[in-house]
Amino acid sequence: MSATTTTSTSTSTSTVAPEPRAARTYDVDAIRRDFPILSTRVYGKPLVYLDNAASAQKPMAVIEAEQKVYESLYANIHRGVHYLSVHATDAYDAARETARAFLNAESAHEIIFVRGTTEAVNLVAQTYGRQNVGAGDEVLITALEHHSNIVPWQLLCEEKGARLAVAPIDDSGALELGAFEKMLSPKTRIVSVAHLSNALGTILPVRRIVELAHARGIPVFVDGAQAAPRMPVDVRALDVDFYAFSSHKIYGPTGVGVLYGKTALLEAMPPYQGGGDMIRSVTFEKTTFNDLPYKFEAGTPNIAGGIAFGAALDYVNGLGLTAIAQHEHDLLAYATAALSEIAGLTIVGTAREKAGVLSFVLEGVHPHDIGTVLDREGIAIRTGHHCAQPVMDRFGLPATARASFGLYNTRGEVDALVAGIHKVIGMFR
Ligand SMILES: Cc1ncc(COP(=O)(O)O)c(C=O)c1O
Repeated sequence: MSATTTTSTSTSTSTVAPEPRAARTYDVDAIRRDFPILSTRVYGKPLVYLDNAASAQKPMAVIEAEQKVYESLYANIHRGVHYLSVHATDAYDAARETARAFLNAESAHEIIFVRGTTEAVNLVAQTYGRQNVGAGDEVLITALEHHSNIVPWQLLCEEKGARLAVAPIDDSGALELGAFEKMLSPKTRIVSVAHLSNALGTILPVRRIVELAHARGIPVFVDGAQAAPRMPVDVRALDVDFYAFSSHKIYGPTGVGVLYGKTALLEAMPPYQGGGDMIRSVTFEKTTFNDLPYKFEAGTPNIAGGIAFGAALDYVNGLGLTAIAQHEHDLLAYATAALSEIAGLTIVGTAREKAGVLSFVLEGVHPHDIGTVLDREGIAIRTGHHCAQPVMDRFGLPATARASFGLYNTRGEVDALVAGIHKVIGMFR
């Protein structure tokens, strides 16, 4: 039975917000039973999946939702008058409404379905950016960004003769807000920041960043790839101009995600890609474009993935983001205390505001060796630069080992991680 007893697996009910479970106890054992993959054994050991920042596992509600589309609901959307097309369209639109409610956006037309966070950044850089960034202008990011919130802006700046400005972080991995503020200048055309660092776990003060930028008339894009699965996000309370996240990191399918944008900005932006669905009329002389959100959704989208993404959002809503955040905070505190006891281990990223992600290095042991030994213990962590090479450079490291938590992890799994690290130390020291 599903741990989220109020979560329907039906694709057609995703507009109905499940009752929040905040008042109920967080039953992690029951939750784990919703995720079939978690009973996998790896080299004879129980899987301990601590690579959630890279991608999260999927509950049955999501797997069944996607299967149901292909079994009984599948047809192309927005184009047909026939039964299946109408019902697939309704389910897809219901998922969009679920995403709207999830972010507390004002309108469902502010929710653009994209392939994921990476595509969302590229979309904004290539539309808003190309329209508004010119020679001598600046795009302001921070030193803790994922490559997908660096390279699209870099490409734009190269094309336009603009400059990519980078606000520094301190030794704990927190943004230096004073320096950030000083870097906001009349040349700054857009600010683009992560909400939560995938390499360090730092939570950025997005509300304050937005206040500072808006006081100077500068819009703010927020990369919510790591934050959306880990904390409640309210785009209107934050007053962000753009917000992006990926389905696969929030327990949904791969290949789908959301770009939120304020209506006025989206209306003024040119289309991103041309093709079917994004047009109102086409002649060889002139094309006029569709309304939001379709103007930015050229071609056949990830129909089944989008519908199952709605089921994933229903699932996390069923648990409650506040409860998930508390659970992961407990795990992070427990793991931080345990890893801090290990001689020769250094935690990378110690900002006061932190969530879900624990990067570390072990004296005398390459992170890849840590990952390989832990893998033989059934423990999945990530090692490397985490698509954030400038963060590694900032700390003078080639790589770190990273354990990242999800809503189904347990203190027992943290104990297994600690035991595994002691095994690594025994082998390499
Ligand atoms: C902070 C952050 N931004 C962006 C991305 C890119 O997300 P995706 O690969 O789903 O587009 C990631 C993925 O790890 C991330 O952690």
